[in-house]
Amino acid sequence: MTDTSSSKFSIPDLAYGTWKLDDQSAAKCVAQAIADGYRMVDTAQRYHNEYGVGIGVKNSGLEREDILVTSKLRGGDQGREQSRRAFFASLRNLGSDYIDVYYVHWPLPRLDLYLESFESMLELREEGFIRQVGVCNFEIPHLQRIISEFDEAPAVNQFELHPGFPQTELVEFCKNNAIEVQGWGVIGRGRGLLEDPTVTALAEQHALTPAQLCIAWANSHGASAVAKSGNRSRWQENLLAAGKELDSETVSQLDVIDFPRMGKDPNVDEEF
Ligand SMILES: NC(=O)c1ccc[n+]([C@@H]2O[C@H](COP(=O)([O-])OP(=O)(O)OC[C@H]3O[C@@H](n4cnc5c(N)ncnc54)[C@H](OP(=O)(O)O)[C@@H]3O)[C@@H](O)[C@H]2O)c1
Repeated sequence: MTDTSSSKFSIPDLAYGTWKLDDQSAAKCVAQAIADGYRMVDTAQRYHNEYGVGIGVKNSGLEREDILVTSKLRGGDQGREQSRRAFFASLRNLGSDYIDVYYVHWPLPRLDLYLESFESMLELREEGFIRQVGVCNFEIPHLQRIISEFDEAPAVNQFELHPGFPQTELVEFCKNNAIEVQGWGVIGRGRGLLEDPTVTALAEQHALTPAQLCIAWANSHGASAVAKSGNRSRWQENLLAAGKELDSETVSQLDVIDFPRMGKDPNVDEEF
């Protein structure tokens, strides 16, 4: 979101998520979502749709350099050599010469390989294959280890963030270290967040839909959001909320609703 003064790298307020889209739907939805205004598309080797995402990007009608395309290194591929091999497989799947942000998908501290993996990515960046090295689901101690080992922070940390789970300290740490924050699960993965009575009441009060309110909440915290929809009217609805700022009273009310972490604890395991 914010322009990091050192690198001038920034990400859009809302990215298009693709988890659970297969290759065929990803090709169709990604092309249309980009044509509708999305400028960042999020995939991962684990989503098994990089090929479809790559086709969608090509068919979007935009130049490749006008779109940020991400992918992620899965846990089983962490390590120095293995991460290089996995990266080039993603690049082939996407049919691109480079990936804009390549992430370590989960820290998996029990493997103790995220430093090696990050170092491989820095080398791939030197070689011109990666524009920005990112991490997902990294907590403050994992980020501190990266920073002290490499004297640089990841460009982006993408982690679970939604009303009821504002991760205040982590967001603050990222901001203080010029790490772009991108929240996933911001609209609650279809698990009841959008039906929460506080969310629905505040959405009505602000003339927004519940999903739009949640995206605006993330943006109001200075975080980008990544949301998935395979439905054009819903992904358009979501995009209309990008960049909207809520007043601090509304943000605080949403911070404390009862909607806790949905995904895994990153200190313990990865998602699936
Ligand atoms: N780094 C990581 O570890 C990590 C983990 C999880 C997710 N992610 C990324 O973040 C993206 C988003 O997370 P997510 O896919 O888990 O969940 P999400 O975006 O919070 O929720 C997706 C669900 O919300 C529905 N939806 C979308 N827009 C809606 C709207 N306006 N109104 C009502 N329902 C709406 C979708 O259904 P329809 O498709 O039917 O619209 C889908 O069921 C993923 O796709 C992935 O790219 C990253």
